[in-house]
Amino acid sequence: MKNITTVRKKPLFRIQIVALLCLMHLTGGLHAQTAMVNVLNRHKTSLNGNWQVILDPTGIGEGKQVWQEKKPQKKTDFVEYSFDGGPYLKVPGDFNSQLCELTYFEGTVWYKKQFNNTLQSGKRLFLHFGAVNYLDDVYLNGEKIGSHEGGFTPFQFEITDKVKTGSNTIVVKVNNNRQANGLPGTGYDWFNYGGITRDVDLIETNSSYIEDYFIQLKKGCLNQVLGWVQMNGAKAAQNIKVKIPELNLLCKARTDEKGLAKVEFSARFKLWSPETPKLYKVIVESESDTLVDTIGFRSIEVKGNKVLLNGKPVFLKAVNIHEENPYKKARAYLINDARILLNAAKELGCNFVRLAHYPHSENTIREAEKMGLMIWDEIPVFQHIQFLDSVVPPKLERMLNEMMCRDKNRCGVIVWSLSNETYPGTPNRNEALISLTAKCRTLDSTRLVVHVINTQEYKDNTFNVWDPLYKYSDLIAINEYIGWYDPWQGQPSETKWQIAFPDKPVFISEFGGEALSGSNSGPTDEAAYWSEEYQEQIYKNQIELFGTIPNLCGVCPWILFDYRSLGRMNQVYQNGYNRKGLLSEKGEKKKAWYIMHEFYKNK
Ligand code: GCU
Repeated sequence: MKNITTVRKKPLFRIQIVALLCLMHLTGGLHAQTAMVNVLNRHKTSLNGNWQVILDPTGIGEGKQVWQEKKPQKKTDFVEYSFDGGPYLKVPGDFNSQLCELTYFEGTVWYKKQFNNTLQSGKRLFLHFGAVNYLDDVYLNGEKIGSHEGGFTPFQFEITDKVKTGSNTIVVKVNNNRQANGLPGTGYDWFNYGGITRDVDLIETNSSYIEDYFIQLKKGCLNQVLGWVQMNGAKAAQNIKVKIPELNLLCKARTDEKGLAKVEFSARFKLWSPETPKLYKVIVESESDTLVDTIGFRSIEVKGNKVLLNGKPVFLKAVNIHEENPYKKARAYLINDARILLNAAKELGCNFVRLAHYPHSENTIREAEKMGLMIWDEIPVFQHIQFLDSVVPPKLERMLNEMMCRDKNRCGVIVWSLSNETYPGTPNRNEALISLTAKCRTLDSTRLVVHVINTQEYKDNTFNVWDPLYKYSDLIAINEYIGWYDPWQGQPSETKWQIAFPDKPVFISEFGGEALSGSNSGPTDEAAYWSEEYQEQIYKNQIELFGTIPNLCGVCPWILFDYRSLGRMNQVYQNGYNRKGLLSEKGEKKKAWYIMHEFYKNK
């Protein structure tokens, strides 16, 4: 690989985004900007806390122009809406778990927050949202400043020239209706938590600020960093320093007329790994801005049929996780929520977490990295996506860019996952996902890029893994539910494999079956009674099956905790929960947990 490739990507990609923004402008849309990197360590004022809300189940607030916040002017006036006198919702947080009338709500909620602005001249101000599910329109003092689509990635608006001195009001129209041409589409097996689910901040910067940077090891190298720093603002050409005090390292560079500097240096790093999750304090400095981050260095690659971490083969002991706090029955977003999930993964013996099926919060990513967990970061391309609809490919790119932009300096992230269980028969599926793969590799050549597929055939005790999309995936990632959705066709230990791309590593990205913790209402060898023994037997058989898989590089049970999913309607055993957890939603360990724990202990 040529050194320069990584460095050239940035401007290329920015041109694509600018083209997309121009198109949206022509079609009347005002779109949010991709958020600046490393928001956690910037000069910010939190807008978290209580926000006033108006519930709008019929969507009538749009016609009434709720964002204008009209007040009666004369004696005969009245206004048929008002935030005053209504409920409050906590931000961040999903709305469903906060008000019982919103428990199963899919629709519009209007949020309002006032803030006091004291911005000094020469400074810039950005309104940053960690995530809002799913669509939002944002108004500042009655004027629309833009919209965003996508429930799990950050976005921002620059409000320097729009904000008033003193009191200002933000109104956000949040809508979590399922969108046929959305990502995900209308059908998915998790709870549709709506609302302003992650932090909201005002971020203050100097007139020229460090917008973005990429500081990671060059692919295949253990001591050489190859990256870049991107300035934003009038003073494009600046001297840049990247410092790592613990290594006595100082790298100097200069940004060009587009504000971009290539950064290249070598050092004897203590490499990040699950056993030693070493992170360094890294200071990125320009003449007008300074940012501190905590960055680790490791290499990840596929060589032949193996996955190599820091040049050595690694077995990926993984578990699937949804971003739900099982004890609160709510969207997980706090560091403490993340710890509940990640500690349970550690206790199981994992070195890897698949954060399914959408980008989880930055808190989770940073916490996992600190704990020595490798991370699988995924965009919500789930099953039936309308790839033929012309609005879908740009959405795919934008969501991928938003996720990668936020997480690209997290060495814990080793996989960009671009799709889960899509089907070759869906028009334009292959074209759209192949092109997305190429974009992803252009943006970052240092990580694995993966598609998860479940189109394999299983008959006569033989798996035929044939999907052409695997050609573009670094791993043959297979979801299979033998023993649950598909009965065994013979002895698991005698299973045969035909794999169209036989030289790639194989990762079982999902397997498992359901059990209701403690269920003992019927025969334990029948699926219909959701017994722990039945699930346990699936796991025992699966472990025998793993022994037959050529190039197996890891496995990932579905799933860590039982989680809410309204399509699960068996009212005796499921009651709105997908029961494939190794742990119940109360944290009880099922029998299968011990099987998996033992398997990982011996790996
Ligand atoms: C799919 C999907 C999971 C889902 C699981 C199940 O494979 O990827 O999100 O929940 O099936 O059926 O439980």
